[in-house]
Amino acid sequence: SSFSVTCKEEVGSTNDEIRLLAEQGAQDGTIVWALRQSAGRGRQGRTWVSPVGNLYFSTLLRPEKSIAEAANLSFVASLALSDAIRQLDRRLAPGLKWPNDVLLSGKKVSGVLLESKADRSGKLDYLIMGIGVNIEHYPDDARYPATSLREQGLSGEIGADKLLECFINSFDARYKLWKKEGFESVRSAWLDQAHGLGEKIYVRLPGETLSGRFVTIDKDGALDLDLENGNQRLVTAGDVFFAS
Ligand code: BTN
Repeated sequence: SSFSVTCKEEVGSTNDEIRLLAEQGAQDGTIVWALRQSAGRGRQGRTWVSPVGNLYFSTLLRPEKSIAEAANLSFVASLALSDAIRQLDRRLAPGLKWPNDVLLSGKKVSGVLLESKADRSGKLDYLIMGIGVNIEHYPDDARYPATSLREQGLSGEIGADKLLECFINSFDARYKLWKKEGFESVRSAWLDQAHGLGEKIYVRLPGETLSGRFVTIDKDGALDLDLENGNQRLVTAGDVFFAS
């Protein structure tokens, strides 16, 4: 595949390392992988605690797509992670939580942080896809219950290097397909593994929490919710919780 990986012992955030390289003109497929991060970031301004033992990496992507379309890549990324986890251990059955978490036994095992840069005309310049996977450790004070691959039974012989290699192979195929055919194939594959589809969920937004039935994701990846008052609501950003 056309991915090149650089491994660093410690960085602030691999997303920031990739941003520097992107500004210097690095190519689509450039990856920075770090053994630990001193300033790891999560979605919505949260911290991603990053001790040695887990996987932290960021990929530079320069697809010829709009910024809105590029948001599809968070679904592509979580699908590829789910593929990789299943490949490494057939007994593991990952579920996907909107928009881009992978769950095992209903608990979060990985997250994706997408950051994009537009050029002066508003066209996508590049995209940074940052991924963190709990292999050995997970935070016990997280907003959402977490787990690690090890806790879920992954063999101690399989570490970050093998997981990254499997991810790259799967992502390569899914990324090519998405560039060629667009979101629809991604959407249906994602829905096949979606956690809580058709069930009651809660969606925490800044300032309000919605509850309703998780109907589907729409053609752009927005969460389609049937509210209890009978209205439909399309959500583009928020935190999902399941009614368990
Ligand atoms: C989330 O909130 O679920 C997203 C977590 C993303 C963490 C990864 S670790 C590698 C990359 N560098 C960062 O600082 N964050 C992402």
